[in-house]
Amino acid sequence: MKKEKNNLMEKIISLCKRRGFVFPGSEIYGGITGMWDYGPAGVLLRKNLKDFWWKELVQMRDDMVGIDAAIIMNPRAWEASGHTSSFSDPLVECKICHLRFRHDKEEEIAGHENTHKGKKVEWTEPQQFNLLVKTYLGIIEGKQQEVFLRGEITNGVSVNFKNIVNSTRVKIPFGIAQIGKAFRNEITPGGFIFRDREFEQMETQFFIKPIKEEGEKWFEYWKQNRMEFLLSLGVNKKKFRFKDHEKLAHYAKAATDIEYEYPWGFDEIMGIHNRADWDLSRHQEYSGEKMEVLDTQTGETFIPWDIETSSGVDRLMLVLLLDAYREEGERIWLSLSVKIAPYKIAVFPLLGNKPELIDKAKEVFNELKKDYMVAWDDRGNIGKRYAAQDEIGTPYCVTVDFDTLEKGEVTVRDRDTMKQEKVKVEDLKKFITEKIYA
Ligand code: GAP
Repeated sequence: MKKEKNNLMEKIISLCKRRGFVFPGSEIYGGITGMWDYGPAGVLLRKNLKDFWWKELVQMRDDMVGIDAAIIMNPRAWEASGHTSSFSDPLVECKICHLRFRHDKEEEIAGHENTHKGKKVEWTEPQQFNLLVKTYLGIIEGKQQEVFLRGEITNGVSVNFKNIVNSTRVKIPFGIAQIGKAFRNEITPGGFIFRDREFEQMETQFFIKPIKEEGEKWFEYWKQNRMEFLLSLGVNKKKFRFKDHEKLAHYAKAATDIEYEYPWGFDEIMGIHNRADWDLSRHQEYSGEKMEVLDTQTGETFIPWDIETSSGVDRLMLVLLLDAYREEGERIWLSLSVKIAPYKIAVFPLLGNKPELIDKAKEVFNELKKDYMVAWDDRGNIGKRYAAQDEIGTPYCVTVDFDTLEKGEVTVRDRDTMKQEKVKVEDLKKFITEKIYA
């Protein structure tokens, strides 16, 4: 069973490389640990996922606005948020081979001990290892300023809280959404794109009145909201669960993870945290800027509490790929939701050497392209073309054949059922749009 599960991970990694989802970072130089590059299919999947997330949380809600803050911030911001002192993991070193691991990852520790085949493994005492990635800014050698690549995207929201309140019509309760890169000097990056050193986060910070019951209410609301978001992507419900944190991060009053059953067992996919007034109070203290808001009804001022939802684009992408992987005999396909599939449709002329079919297929392709990401393929036989689209999860393949020329109908083949149906060319957009919004 375990072998089969590891096998699934190997199959996903191989498919990602073969079909242009994910490549090892700077592969031609031997790669670099914890870094991955996203290929043509991968970048589309990520974009669709981010767009879907943004649409749900910003476009469709009237209590959420967006921001895109800089990756590098004034280092004082990281002191204020507690990251320079507390953003760390416990590091231990194997005294035999000097490899380093996270002390709190029992399975990884046990797995490593097994590699020493019965030898008694001794470990160094756990030491807190800070995860912030440092870099330097400035043009005079020796006088450069040490700065950090952000370890989480949250801080950019917190330092702009007052800017947002003052420049928009928001009022409590309201949220700020952000998508962007984060960097962590992870002790043991691994699990393919599960734990990277460079990754992307999608977060909402939802600001509420600083009242215990309000905190509990919105914390529960966001837990359910985020689980529904995941399930709306057509994933297997049984593989997701909530897990409360036993040990809280330095900023959190309460925290729950949504976990997915990866090939190695249940592990985190996203977090919901009650950060209370940690960030805003600390920034008020360190910067001297007032972070209070006025309740126009009662006339009181207060520093709001922040209920956060935080998910990783890379980790979510891994979950979606693992969950969508299907095989039957020789056939492999990704049963990705039409909402996020890299291409919504592929268009093929039945024969690649008949100019009239190619011209008509190009006409269909060019029209659909105005609204969706559409793949084109006129090489090889139709079976091979279906197989290539199945592996990148294209839900519908449209073949332009002689019926198209005579009756204006195309054949639409469904990725999951492999059923084919005739659809009028002029009804194609309606057909696809109905599937997306079904
Ligand atoms: N702002 C809160 C925060 O950053 P976190 O639990 O440390 O909380 C939130 O991270 C999410 O970011 C995780 O659930 C995961 O999806 C993603 N994430 C965190 N570290 C990651 C890493 N090293 N590689 C990939 N994704 C990561």
